[in-house]
Amino acid sequence: MNPVNIEPYKLPADATWLVTGCSSGIGREIATLIASKPNQRIIATARNPNDLSYLPDGNSNILKLPLDVTSVESVDAAFTAAAQQFGENFHLDVVVNNAGYSLSGDTEGATEEEIHQAMETVFFGTVRVTTRSIAVMRQAKERRGGLIFQISSLAGLCAFPGHAFYHAGKFAVEGFSESVAREMHPDWNINFCIVEPSGVKTNFEGHSKANIKPHPAYLDEDMPARKLEKYVNAGKKLGVGMEPSALAEILFMIASREERVPLRLPLGAVSWKLSKSKFETLLGDFEAVKDISAMGQEI
Ligand SMILES: NC(=O)c1ccc[n+]([C@@H]2O[C@H](COP(=O)([O-])OP(=O)(O)OC[C@H]3O[C@@H](n4cnc5c(N)ncnc54)[C@H](OP(=O)(O)O)[C@@H]3O)[C@@H](O)[C@H]2O)c1
Repeated sequence: MNPVNIEPYKLPADATWLVTGCSSGIGREIATLIASKPNQRIIATARNPNDLSYLPDGNSNILKLPLDVTSVESVDAAFTAAAQQFGENFHLDVVVNNAGYSLSGDTEGATEEEIHQAMETVFFGTVRVTTRSIAVMRQAKERRGGLIFQISSLAGLCAFPGHAFYHAGKFAVEGFSESVAREMHPDWNINFCIVEPSGVKTNFEGHSKANIKPHPAYLDEDMPARKLEKYVNAGKKLGVGMEPSALAEILFMIASREERVPLRLPLGAVSWKLSKSKFETLLGDFEAVKDISAMGQEI
């Protein structure tokens, strides 16, 4: 397979960042951090731009724009507005696809509309912003390369009960991003980093969770999804997880350390350990079916 992220990435001193979902949580922390860095420009976006009032007005390095990732018109309008604001020398150096929510609950109970809306945000929204970002990075007059962070999740590597559509969206983002990363011409130096955090201390559970109507066949508290709910709620009470500001600092470190960008970045000990264990289990499963898989050939 052809390699990805071949050359070390060098963050320009006057880099422009674009981040989706900056109203709260991780997106807000990234926008706040970049806005605090001298000469770095931030295009902070949110469905409702009033949610960006925590960023100062009247700073030419800070652009606040409305952007709903589910709307083609909204995404196009944001890219047009950014190009107009920064003029001839408009370039995008770092893009963070952060917007997302989780459709959670009993898979059998989900409606077609709920399923499509979830994929529209998590998967198609990421696709829209990514493809437009690549075009801007590729066409920049002076070739500057670029870096696209996809805020996936441990949920993009491991699947747990009761979140089938969230996992489907994040797994789709991971496959899409890996394929696109392999599609880049090496001279473009366009890099991808799929970020896979475990718990982050944001209000994701309260603010960004859509709950499927409970299905009567899955109510028993011994059902796997009910047990996981209990475990997650206990963890929330204990305040486990990383600070979103720490996650923002790590993204800035990856962008600015002038080294090769990792294609995948599990974040947090839980994410690293569970992902590793998943792949180790998979290797064992592969060995168990090796003779069948070979279909009479040598492996
Ligand atoms: N918190 C965790 O434990 C955790 C772990 C792993 C991965 N993540 C991922 O991290 C990302 C950010 O989540 P968070 O923890 O920071 O929670 P959050 O504070 O609830 O942030 C979610 C953000 O996504 C935005 N959003 C939702 N739908 C959108 C749309 N159609 N267009 C544009 N923006 C939209 C929300 O905007 P509104 O305010 O307008 O709703 C909000 O800004 C998500 O992709 C999530 O899957 C979170």
